[in-house]
Amino acid sequence: MSQRLQDKVALITGAASGIGEACARLFVAEGARVVMTDLNVAAGERIAAELGDRARFIEHDVSAPEAWAVVISSIQAHEGGLHVLVNNAGILMPGTIEQTSLEQWHTLMRVNADSAFLGCQAALPLMKTHGEGGSIVNISSIAALAARDDYMAYGASKGAVAALTRSVAVHCRKQKYRIRCNSVHPDGVLTAMTRAAYPKDMDDALFTIDSDPMNRACRPEDVAQGVLYLAADESRAVNGIELRIDSGQFIMSI
Ligand SMILES: NC(=O)c1ccc[n+]([C@@H]2O[C@H](COP(=O)([O-])OP(=O)(O)OC[C@H]3O[C@@H](n4cnc5c(N)ncnc54)[C@H](O)[C@@H]3O)[C@@H](O)[C@H]2O)c1
Repeated sequence: MSQRLQDKVALITGAASGIGEACARLFVAEGARVVMTDLNVAAGERIAAELGDRARFIEHDVSAPEAWAVVISSIQAHEGGLHVLVNNAGILMPGTIEQTSLEQWHTLMRVNADSAFLGCQAALPLMKTHGEGGSIVNISSIAALAARDDYMAYGASKGAVAALTRSVAVHCRKQKYRIRCNSVHPDGVLTAMTRAAYPKDMDDALFTIDSDPMNRACRPEDVAQGVLYLAADESRAVNGIELRIDSGQFIMSI
């Protein structure tokens, strides 16, 4: 049986941990050549080495425009093309509208939203050249869809990612690029990010998650399966959607 990402080149940001790492592992298992990027060089290089010849790590700050140019030209030189971009790197910071400083707002916007904009803009020219089509998957959040008073700026940054995704999807369709763009909206995934923000909730979730698949928390691998679907050709008719991976938490909250 052929693998779902056979002969595809994928770039995954924030791949040294959590959801990005799970995507890198799954993509390699499904036959892709994966370029993993992150600020965390030690973890990124260790995981890439573990994954073997089909994974390569590049140090990369996703909020820096010049760093995107370096990554894209490295992919052009080494892999010769790009089929899949997963804009995954991100940070979480708490704060209500009354607690959040302009500096914190800008930091969240830069790392979470500027990065998706820069990634789409940098990747499109290379994705267009081989004419085989492509898929961009932007990792947003349930926080883009449901109000989180305590993570106001984070939610706003992820809302920007969702809106950006729709515009890119429509643009690529109008231009007949055969490049799709979709967003993924997880909630409560057990990663370093949530462990730091909700230590008590995550400890409780760890005990129940495997005995109750509809428990609120999920594992990075659950999100990676959704990203794989959107990356692969089997979702070729899926464009501009918001894929919620949240065990139904969103619909319970509205
Ligand atoms: N964990 C959740 O419950 C959850 C829910 C919804 C959305 N998300 C989103 O999923 C994505 C992955 O989060 P995670 O939970 O796996 O977190 P994580 O902290 O485990 O991984 C995030 C990775 O991004 C990297 N990173 C941070 N800033 C960077 C930068 N400027 N440049 C390059 N890399 C950078 C980190 O070094 C880290 O390796 C994020 O965009 C996050 O907002 C997570």
